[in-house]
Amino acid sequence: MATEERINEGKTKEIFRIPPGDDGTKLVLVRSRDTLTAFNAKRKDEVDGKAVFATQTTINVFNYLNDLGCPTAFVRAGDKENEFIAQECLMIPIEWVARRIATGSFLKRNPGVPEGYTFKPLKIETFFKDDANDDPQWSDEQILNAKFEFNNRKIGKNEIYWMKRLTDAVFRVLEKAWRTLGCALVDMKVEFGVTSKGQIVLADVIDNDSWRVWPGGDKRLQLDKQFYRDLNEVTGDALVELKKNYHKVQILTEDFLPRPEDRKARLLIVAGSGADKPFIDEAALLAGKYGITNVFRRISSAHKSTSEALDLIAEYEDGTPTVVICIAGRSNGLGPVLSSNSTLPVINAPNNSADWAAQDIWSSLRMPTGVGCTTVLNSSEAALAAAKILSLNDHIIFGRILFTQLSNVGKVFEADNLFNNN
Ligand SMILES: Nc1ncnc2c1ncn2[C@@H]1O[C@H](COP(=O)(O)OP(=O)(O)OP(=O)(O)O)[C@@H](O)[C@H]1O
Ligand SMILES: [Mg+2]
Repeated sequence: MATEERINEGKTKEIFRIPPGDDGTKLVLVRSRDTLTAFNAKRKDEVDGKAVFATQTTINVFNYLNDLGCPTAFVRAGDKENEFIAQECLMIPIEWVARRIATGSFLKRNPGVPEGYTFKPLKIETFFKDDANDDPQWSDEQILNAKFEFNNRKIGKNEIYWMKRLTDAVFRVLEKAWRTLGCALVDMKVEFGVTSKGQIVLADVIDNDSWRVWPGGDKRLQLDKQFYRDLNEVTGDALVELKKNYHKVQILTEDFLPRPEDRKARLLIVAGSGADKPFIDEAALLAGKYGITNVFRRISSAHKSTSEALDLIAEYEDGTPTVVICIAGRSNGLGPVLSSNSTLPVINAPNNSADWAAQDIWSSLRMPTGVGCTTVLNSSEAALAAAKILSLNDHIIFGRILFTQLSNVGKVFEADNLFNNN
């Protein structure tokens, strides 16, 4: 391509500037090479196909993260299988490591901690990218006092908190995705960059060199680059085995984003009257944002059509993970009646727009024993409560909730920065 201008070249990738996107976003093409390195490139091999395995794994991971609402530099796959398109970033020279299980370098730096020790919460560590000094571990204070500034973004305390929170969230959603495939995510390394607009985003790559993955939690089955580091001698047979692992990881990560037909989580919104439509729509809209794709809207009345209301709830007792939101004005018979006649979790979101709301609410709160429904005061909170229950079984909903919460944290930091850019 005549329009390509190479702006960077590292051990495994070349970066080319390409024409900006329609919205003026500066873009780069990231092209991988078949090179595999370890121990700061003291061990180096050419592995035919590695560039494609690595790029496709990165594409799978970033498509998943983008779907969840994680801020990333990744834009789309490229025309060639060893290329992808990303926002051009100035890279923050820190490696952010999240650990669930103690192994590797952590054990050397922390004598006395046994291999296999589980970090709850995750352990987040930071290392300054400095090949000449073997990437020394840095404290928050060292990062702060480096006074990094990229594209007018000062890396202050809030930015450091933010990147730690993002590292934690990225690990947790990748851990969930790996768990659905029967594998334990042990630890992971990520990097952040600053876009031309000053936004901090997850950048570089996340591929099979970025993490440790143990099928069934068994270290001996490790699928990642550690296999290469652990080789006493790099033989042809070992490289064949390694290629199989990298290809396997490429194929497995394709399932991080499940097919729509494999997403079972279901939300049933039942309202007592057609007049409740605005509340139904509000709950459905938010449920969609949280990644609940199966939303059913029904009208039924526990007072007027009691036996049909019981038939209706029985329809949804088919073993599919389902949460019910009940929206009713005046006396809420609907939620309590459906709740005491089904095993599905029922959340009342009473239509409290009437003058009598303060009295009406008691019909959603004070129940006979054995009913067990919960009550929130508006439809959007009901949708979030439903999403949280469904997220126990669905890693997409889990991730959407987590990154929504994180985006709220980001807004607090941005607001604070306007007053106090430290
Ligand atoms: N979206 C991006 N915009 C600009 N530069 C990027 C982007 N993503 C990655 N890079 C940079 O491209 C360079 C080449 O990548 P590569 O991984 O090959 O480098 P490396 O040899 O590992 O060196 P480094 O220690 O800098 O990562 C790196 O400096 C990386 O930070
Ligand atoms: Mg690199």
